[in-house]
Amino acid sequence: MKVVLLGATRGMGRSVARELASRGASIFLLGRKPEELARSAADLEQRGAQGPVGHAPCDLLDTGSFAAALDAADAALGNFDTVVITAGLFGTQEQLESDLALAERVLTANYVNTVIFCEHVRERLLARGGGSLCVFSSVAGDRGRKPVALYGSSKAGLSHYLESLDHKHSSEGLTTLCVKPGFVKTSMTEGLKPAPFAGEPDQVARVVVRALERKAPLVYAPFPWGWIMLVIKLLPRFVMRRVGF
Ligand SMILES: NC(=O)c1ccc[n+]([C@@H]2O[C@H](COP(=O)([O-])OP(=O)(O)OC[C@H]3O[C@@H](n4cnc5c(N)ncnc54)[C@H](OP(=O)(O)O)[C@@H]3O)[C@@H](O)[C@H]2O)c1
Repeated sequence: MKVVLLGATRGMGRSVARELASRGASIFLLGRKPEELARSAADLEQRGAQGPVGHAPCDLLDTGSFAAALDAADAALGNFDTVVITAGLFGTQEQLESDLALAERVLTANYVNTVIFCEHVRERLLARGGGSLCVFSSVAGDRGRKPVALYGSSKAGLSHYLESLDHKHSSEGLTTLCVKPGFVKTSMTEGLKPAPFAGEPDQVARVVVRALERKAPLVYAPFPWGWIMLVIKLLPRFVMRRVGF
């Protein structure tokens, strides 16, 4: 695998990158903090990544940085075949309701700009006969819910786009994997009360890399979040109005 990762300096992205490195993948990192990228690259080289791990600047809030970042990845890897996007922003419903500038950044990063980044990737992978695009959405996008009305709507839009991409291009060799994590203990959820069944980033990474290998279009992680969401998706609207989640 020749993999480009956006958002692998921390959290689940770092765990996915380490899992891929241990399997001998060639890796190129994209992100907004050069020192963090360099530190992560050195870590992945020690963990078995094939060849030197390069990196380039890319800010999810700046669509103008996308093309040059992907050019740099192509030049270093000799045409990548896999892209993993874990970069994303979060805010609690209270934070986002009381700070609309923050809400705009979260909605823009998680939906509009992630989709635009995917469009750059889609064009490149289709031109070379296909490949894999793996994007982290969230269980928060599966159902309209009180505590994640704003954040969840950005992930709902993203999941919808990823499903459509899979329908449209899987026959052309482009595999789109939508990852829907439940509550996972990372810097994003630091300070929040852990939900029941809260998981660890390494658990998610193992599930995601296996899903990439078998070209799955959708995966929930960690267990048992797929089953939990199956039940939540079936709850009638009057129940959703009454409950707090
Ligand atoms: N944790 C959960 O419970 C949970 C649940 C469901 C879905 N998710 C989703 O899963 C993904 C990964 O979450 P996580 O918990 O692993 O997050 P995390 O620990 O906060 O890590 C986020 C990563 O994204 C990068 N990033 C943030 N803003 C960026 C920007 N503007 N440009 C480029 N990179 C940027 C960060 O890099 P820097 O070092 O530059 O900040 C970091 O590497 C996210 O899309 C999140 O919405 C998380």
